Amino acid sequence: AIHPVLLCGGSGTRLWPLSRKSYPKQFAPLLGKESLFQASVRRLTGPAFAHPVVVTTDAFRFIVAEQVSELGVAPAALLIEPEGRDTAPAILAATLQAATGDPAALVLVAPSDHVIPDAQSFQGTVAAAVPAALSGRIVTFGIAPSRPETGYGYLELAEAPAPGAAPTALPLRAFVEKPDATRARAMVEDGRHLWNAGIFLFRADVMVEAARRHAPALLAAVEASLARAKRDLGFHRLDPAAWAQAPAISVDYAVMEKADNLSVVPYEGRWSDLGDWAAVWRETHEEGTAASGAATAIDCQGTLLRSEAPGQRVVGIGLTDIVAVAMPDAVLVAHRDRAQDVKAVVATLKAEG
Ligand code: GDD
Ligand code: MG
Repeated sequence: AIHPVLLCGGSGTRLWPLSRKSYPKQFAPLLGKESLFQASVRRLTGPAFAHPVVVTTDAFRFIVAEQVSELGVAPAALLIEPEGRDTAPAILAATLQAATGDPAALVLVAPSDHVIPDAQSFQGTVAAAVPAALSGRIVTFGIAPSRPETGYGYLELAEAPAPGAAPTALPLRAFVEKPDATRARAMVEDGRHLWNAGIFLFRADVMVEAARRHAPALLAAVEASLARAKRDLGFHRLDPAAWAQAPAISVDYAVMEKADNLSVVPYEGRWSDLGDWAAVWRETHEEGTAASGAATAIDCQGTLLRSEAPGQRVVGIGLTDIVAVAMPDAVLVAHRDRAQDVKAVVATLKAEG
């Protein structure tokens, strides 16, 4: 069986005012009734999958437990990080936990804040990656890039993938995390690069070996922290003193950019990181405008209107390329092209108290 590991940290500030520090985007029902986290858990259930390991922080432990139980899923473990130290420590801790009793267990790491509407085709792509993972490769999943995004990792193939081909693992030439704009543009144009979806399939022992080679201090800290973890109401609390010794770094920088045993399986279905309101608009609009909650759009184009405030209606008339999101205590109105800037505004608001 494949052991799913769900990463559930991060705060998604670019989706303010819906996403909050205490209630980040992956727990909110951004699209449809389920939260992104719940959809991510559900996508990795079925005959091919073992019970999931979820890694999260203290603040979210009860939301996680509640949202998992709403799905009728019993987690193999809920790991609590003493503090978020980016994805490398979280992935290693969860990998070691998932491999309890089976050091060569297959592990699939996935973020909990992505949108992948076609769970079935995604599972088919994961199945296609299994032979390569069993043979000792770390398998990444590649998305055909549609813009020179600088917030993603890029996967370099030997040649452009054949569109429409059955999914299969291809060797990876290089992994480039978060390039600058010039490099991103060149990589999108040459047709040989895919976006890294941030999802990884590997044998636990293979990942642990890669960490031993490329990030030994990190691995030692994580192993010590897990060995001294405490059970608390069904949660596994990682040991804070050992955890604090782990460098805060993403798995992309700590391992993927350095590893020489990477493969990629292209995924041709819809995938979105849903990082900001422009992405939510892209995922939800029909005929240019998306209105949800008590929201009414009249003669609007390229516009997202949303009310999450009970009893409060939002009406837009004749708007073009606007994002408006109403919460009980805050209303965001922005040009859609400025959706990225919400992050900076939230930082300023926080500084002002
Ligand atoms: N438990 C835990 N602890 N989860 C974390 C932590 C942490 O300290 N830090 C981040 N995560 C979770 C986030 O909630 C998210 O679901 C996932 O790990 C990825 O982290 P991000 O911070 O969102 O990474 P990114 O978007 O900048 O980059 C990654 O994803 C891109 C695709 O969305 C990289 O893998 C890129 O290469 C990739 O293209
Ligand atoms: Mg992300």
